[in-house]
Amino acid sequence: MSFPLYAPAEEHQMLRETVRALADEKIAPHAAEVDETGEFPWDAYKALTAADLHAVHVPEEYGGAGADALAAVIVIEEVARACASSSLIPAVNKLGTVPLLLSASDDLKRRYLAPVARGEGMFSYALSEAEAGSDAAAMKTRAVRDGDHYVLNGSKMWITNAGISEFYTVMAVTDPEAGARGISAFVVEKGDEGVSFGPKEKKLGIKGSPTRQVILENVRIPADRMIGPEGTGFKTALATLDHTRITIAAQALGIAQGALDYAVGYVKERRQFGKPIAEFQGLQFMIADMAMKLEAARQLTYAAAAKSEAAMQGEKVADLTFFSSAAKCAASDAAMEITTDAVQLLGGYGYTRDYPVERMMRDAKITQIYEGTNQIQRMVMARQLLK
Ligand code: CAA
Ligand code: FAD
Repeated sequence: MSFPLYAPAEEHQMLRETVRALADEKIAPHAAEVDETGEFPWDAYKALTAADLHAVHVPEEYGGAGADALAAVIVIEEVARACASSSLIPAVNKLGTVPLLLSASDDLKRRYLAPVARGEGMFSYALSEAEAGSDAAAMKTRAVRDGDHYVLNGSKMWITNAGISEFYTVMAVTDPEAGARGISAFVVEKGDEGVSFGPKEKKLGIKGSPTRQVILENVRIPADRMIGPEGTGFKTALATLDHTRITIAAQALGIAQGALDYAVGYVKERRQFGKPIAEFQGLQFMIADMAMKLEAARQLTYAAAAKSEAAMQGEKVADLTFFSSAAKCAASDAAMEITTDAVQLLGGYGYTRDYPVERMMRDAKITQIYEGTNQIQRMVMARQLLK
């Protein structure tokens, strides 16, 4: 009798091989330059789009590849292994569009998912504001109904790929008296009159992914661009994060895998005291711990992805919120530890820009902060456990 392996299916393994080959050939060679110049990785964007890997999660009925949540994780993981900035292309395309998949009318899905699937424009997600980060419901951006339109005013902070993306899911207050239940979600286009962008933030890592304010000044959009009914935008925003925190976990896994792979190769070559440093047990134990933490986080992330997929297929998955936060938290904490240890394993060389591990360490840090800090993930997990 044979038992199925507790492992990704063959098609997922094949997908991994395809993405790894593409990332090694077309994305990795530019990663250091992207970090150095802070330029958006257009080479990666073109390569991912040409291979139809820029938004694999878009369902077939809207012109996409219709890949499942684990497939999206694998794509992001493998791109991040080569270049964390580039992995935000598939990750943010998913983040921007999941609100539509969860809550939008069929018409809105058709209008906006198809161009993303065709690679004609990317989709960003605008929840945070300068004074409303962790406490996202404290947002001030307003949307006021005016006949068949809404007029949006306010400023969204920290928006990934802002200025590059054509489309934005924007959360705004429609009823200031109703708290979180007075927030609605809208599709805003880059070309809408009154939309502008702040300067690029100067960041520690993911330098090739622009982070900018999205400024909305009397932006008048048709009312049918609202995602779901009025007042449901905050729930849609949080329900989205239940699916997409898993993609940040994937990004963290990829960064950590890249650092581990590099460090393993290095310690076998580098000689001190007359032998390869890989022969010192102190370093062997570090490498074993790095791989162990990575694999534990990976299994949690894949379990979370399976739950995300089941929920997307209409199943009620009571512990999705817990698993999504746990995966993001575990994988990002692991990535920070693993990349820091990778720098240590390379000694002084690891501290320089001549080697990739210091970039990976700087890139890993953001995964503990965005899509909710790891303090917020722990709060979300505790709330699930204690409710
Ligand atoms: N799914 C659906 N609805 C949910 C939900 C979920 N997972 N969690 C809560 N809700 C609902 C609640 O039921 C409640 O609705 P009712 O009043 O109708 O019951 C409503 O949402 C408000 O919930 P809370 O009272 O729990 O809300 P809160 O104000 O206490 O805040 C929070 C909750 C967990 C702290 C939330 O604000 C949060 O996650 N903050 C972190 C912000 C964040 O993650 N930002 C990410 C920005 S995107 C990003 O960073 C991009 C990138 O990486 C590239
Ligand atoms: P704060 O909320 O001010 O937190 C400061 C500190 O206080 C943190 O350590 C936090 O964990 C802690 N803290 C806050 N509240 C609590 C609490 N209740 N209990 C314990 N500790 C607490 N947002 C978007 O909407 N779209 C994007 O595309 C996007 N991309 C981003 C890209 C980058 C590079 C960055 C830096 C941010 C991005 N964000 C985006 C915003 C990101 O989600 C927020 O920065 C994050 O949620 C934290 O909010 P904050 O920066 O205001 O920190």
